[in-house]
Amino acid sequence: MCGIIGITSTKQVSSTIINSLKKLEYRGYDSAGIATLYDGFINEVKCEGRVDSLEKNVSKINLLGNVGIGHVRWATHGKPNTVNAHPHSSETVSVVHNGIIENSTILKKFLVEKGYKFKSQTDTEVIVHLVTDYLKDNNLKDSILKMLKKLQGSFALGIIFKDQPDLIVGARRGSPLAVGYGPNENYLGSDSYALKSMTNKISYLDDGDFCIIKKDQVDFFDSKGNKINKKVLKLSSNEQNYEKGDYKHFMAKEIEEQPTTIKNCVNEYIDKINNEINILNFPWKKNEISSIKLIACGTAYHSCLIAKYWFEQLTLLDVEVDIASEFRYRRNRFKTDCLYIFVSQSGETADTYAALDLCNKHKMKTCSIVNVVESSIARDSKLVFPIHCGPEIGVASTKAFLGQMLVLYILCLKIGYLRKDLDKKKYNLKIKSLLSLSKLVSNSLSTENQIQSICNSFTKAKGAMFLGRGYSFPIALEGALKLKELAYIHAEGYPAGEMKHGPLALIEDGMPVVVIAPRDEYYKKTISNMQEVIARGAKVLLITNKSDEEIYSENIWEKIEIENTEEDLFPFLTTIPLQKLAYYSALKKGYDIDKPRNLAKSVTVE
Ligand code: G6P
Repeated sequence: MCGIIGITSTKQVSSTIINSLKKLEYRGYDSAGIATLYDGFINEVKCEGRVDSLEKNVSKINLLGNVGIGHVRWATHGKPNTVNAHPHSSETVSVVHNGIIENSTILKKFLVEKGYKFKSQTDTEVIVHLVTDYLKDNNLKDSILKMLKKLQGSFALGIIFKDQPDLIVGARRGSPLAVGYGPNENYLGSDSYALKSMTNKISYLDDGDFCIIKKDQVDFFDSKGNKINKKVLKLSSNEQNYEKGDYKHFMAKEIEEQPTTIKNCVNEYIDKINNEINILNFPWKKNEISSIKLIACGTAYHSCLIAKYWFEQLTLLDVEVDIASEFRYRRNRFKTDCLYIFVSQSGETADTYAALDLCNKHKMKTCSIVNVVESSIARDSKLVFPIHCGPEIGVASTKAFLGQMLVLYILCLKIGYLRKDLDKKKYNLKIKSLLSLSKLVSNSLSTENQIQSICNSFTKAKGAMFLGRGYSFPIALEGALKLKELAYIHAEGYPAGEMKHGPLALIEDGMPVVVIAPRDEYYKKTISNMQEVIARGAKVLLITNKSDEEIYSENIWEKIEIENTEEDLFPFLTTIPLQKLAYYSALKKGYDIDKPRNLAKSVTVE
């Protein structure tokens, strides 16, 4: 999704801006651009496609300037092309923008009537002309305040001015924005990750804030224009995790990292000596919570669906799961005895953030499970549980999914035990099993050769189905999502028992169907459903666990066996072959695995 970088310095800035834009590439984008101030003029270079092409164009003209802004764009208003790429500039100002201006059509009409000419189809250009117009009769700060008052929607902005050779304005409503502090230079960034390569000292803008950044001074203001102070936070530096190493793709690296990330997360939460879960800072008493609502988007939503099964099995709490983009507009019955849990890898997903914000406004009990601990969702939740996965760069979430499931499971055990829904013996046994999870995940990784030959049938197919029951149903959804987003193959995840109510009609000779059926309480029922699809010509790939028990079904096309473990932990293992299936199918088709078309890592628009 869109990303912003701004630098004001004593040095030339264009190459540092380009390098920082490269750090933002993982978010998913379709065009890029940069503008600098030099000799009293704004100079702009933009292009469709990758930052590499932008870099070539910038070096061709030797773009000079000590102040500049850069952007990677994920198209919302107007096609992904050079004209619509950011920055957008008038003679006076240049603007980069993340988010959506919802009233841009009305503002455009007003500006066109005033004689302003529009070059692009973007909503962003209204900001350029509004600021240009206000600057005619107002000072810089008042012009910004007036412009911000006119805008509806969510946005993060970076603006430079022809007549202000040392200055960048940043503004935030909805979309995240941070300021970084360096020696004789300061920065603006939509993402602490992009700023990390330049500094570890940052401040976050809150909703409605704006700032004026000079190379040796930063001033922050609230939405009324009052000066405010900001805390300077120190970021941890783990730069080496941002590299691909010997792997072809970040996704391949992140799949292989899963035993380590599981181990790290278990070490953070489990006290091995006392066989206990280290969640000491729980701010609510056990009788203050009688239900749980899990809210998320995408893959994180699937982790919540699995957690519902765990919470229902191991506690007596009522549990509901909601997609954030639905929750935020529903007529919700907010309950003071409900714990609202928000799950997000990035901690910046606009819909998940808006759902959290809504709960905070209703004074609900909120907690979040995130990977990026400096993120907006983490900062605004009452309680935060990090998943300790390290940076995830591949757009399609893999290791974060396992991390989210793990923290949800740990939380479920702890709450179940505190409420006495789970007795001490069972609680201790489950904690013990978690200690072997990393090893089990590691053993499930060695399916490379088998999957590489299996995926030929998927790449040639019109579509595929993924079936499961119980907590294997959300895994089926996740398997289908991975195949869609990476290999662009139409795939559906379905509860195996529901097939006969419609989707069975789709099954035809040779259609690949993945059946996820470890030997759990649902196993026999799922195997019956598997036979129904085999009878109609489906090529079934069965994912089950190793066992001496015979499978009573003929004509299974392929079988992948994961390690045997206790039922609760099967979802961690059945996921892995599905991640690999999507990876190798996309590889075979020659697609851009880490940056699938039209998708973004951090979805900061609704
Ligand atoms: C995007 C990513 C998905 C991710 C979803 C939610 O769509 O491509 O992989 O699951 O956003 O992201 P979050 O950061 O909130 O987990």
